[in-house]
Amino acid sequence: MPNAPASSPARLPLGQQLRRRKPIEAFAEAGADGDASSSAAPRLRRSLGVWHLTAISIGATLGTGILVVLGTAVPLAGPAVWLSFVLAGVAALLSALSYAEMAGSVPVSGSSYSYAYATLGEGIAWVCGWCLVLEYAVSVAAVAVGAGQYVNETLAVFGLALPDAIAAPPGAGGVVNLPAAVLVLIATAVLVPGARESAWVNTLLVVVKIALLVFFVAVAFTAFDAGNFEPLAPMGAAGVSAAASRLFFSYIGFDAASTAGEEARDARRDLPRAIIASIVIITVLYILVAVAAVGARPWQTFTDGEATLVQIVAGITGQPWVALVFSVAAVLAIASVVLTVLYGQTRIFVSMSRDGLVPRALGRISPRTQTPVVGTLIVGGAVAVTAALIPLGALADATSIGTLFAFAVVNVSVIYLRRTRPELERSYRVPLYPLTPLLGCAFCVLLMVTLGWITWIAFAVWMVVGAGVYAVYGRRHSVLARVS
Ligand code: ALA
Repeated sequence: MPNAPASSPARLPLGQQLRRRKPIEAFAEAGADGDASSSAAPRLRRSLGVWHLTAISIGATLGTGILVVLGTAVPLAGPAVWLSFVLAGVAALLSALSYAEMAGSVPVSGSSYSYAYATLGEGIAWVCGWCLVLEYAVSVAAVAVGAGQYVNETLAVFGLALPDAIAAPPGAGGVVNLPAAVLVLIATAVLVPGARESAWVNTLLVVVKIALLVFFVAVAFTAFDAGNFEPLAPMGAAGVSAAASRLFFSYIGFDAASTAGEEARDARRDLPRAIIASIVIITVLYILVAVAAVGARPWQTFTDGEATLVQIVAGITGQPWVALVFSVAAVLAIASVVLTVLYGQTRIFVSMSRDGLVPRALGRISPRTQTPVVGTLIVGGAVAVTAALIPLGALADATSIGTLFAFAVVNVSVIYLRRTRPELERSYRVPLYPLTPLLGCAFCVLLMVTLGWITWIAFAVWMVVGAGVYAVYGRRHSVLARVS
């Protein structure tokens, strides 16, 4: 579907335009065959199977949250931090079920942006797409910052730590976070040659990170002290839920498979499976790691700003080389988040650009690689600059609020579509409908409310900027707003 020219003569009034929905059949037409030869415009190539898709979701999810942000959550919740993981995991699971249903009904590449466009109209779809930039592009930057922290702590074990000036952003004692920016640029280079190639690299990295967490649990349990869990929740329920909001970041990414709808060999069948499998695997791993971490080290000794798990492993083994191997694997683990989340952002932009809401260059598919090469370079460059200049905490919270909004929209979309298109083919249906999507939505709102007011202000500013971008670009270029 081509973009509309800027000077398109007849356009809908704003109110109607914001409510206009994209017919589900139009999505199918835009991304259906994946055969580059069958149409003038090159398409994304359908090359990913269920394992690739599951690895994309796990790849996008397991990373900084468990390896670094855990250190900021333990001081909030105390030993009950594993309960915070359960709470955040339940919230994520409810939304994951809704994602699975939507991915099996509208199996395209735009994730919640596309689901919102099919159900709630262009206005909410734009807001959702704009929030996805927080979930994807901004979170990649946050994740890369976390990886940079690991790189430096590893070097520090050997007295080789980079000077702060080139290892930390302004505001955190440095000038530029070079390791974070370099990591993003490497991931960008891996994404350009093809989806299958990068999915292969990612699957390898996912195996490394699951092995890493299993290794951590095994080592930490050798130093397990049940006394570390008394009292369980020194900061009470408020502490547990505040930590859950913070830890929600560690579940972000399970939906990444839903950005690969047009590259999946059998999207309708495999996307729901991949999303549900990934969230279950991730939740079990997180709870094990949290219990093992607090069992191995009194909660009072956890502090923000350190690479928590590597410190614990180093403390227990007393062997610098174990810490080194662990740190290298941790960096690889986080690199796969950078890779897959960057991938997700480029595919969301492909969908948005096809609809005319972001510039066409972001969606142009190279006939040679069948990937959005220009879009990948633009997104990779912008994320590298952000990662180089902004500290992790600020980025992580901004990411969570945008993601929670997008998840809430997906829960609402499930309900909307069940009511308006009951006959639609669905390869997966949420259990206990409508309770599951209603609870999923309620959990998202609850977690949003517990985020700090600074995050809300940042979110409001982000939304105002988004409204401006829509007014200046999307409103005028929207393909669907053309009166035909
Ligand atoms: N969930 C991803 C991470 O924790 C963003 O790194």
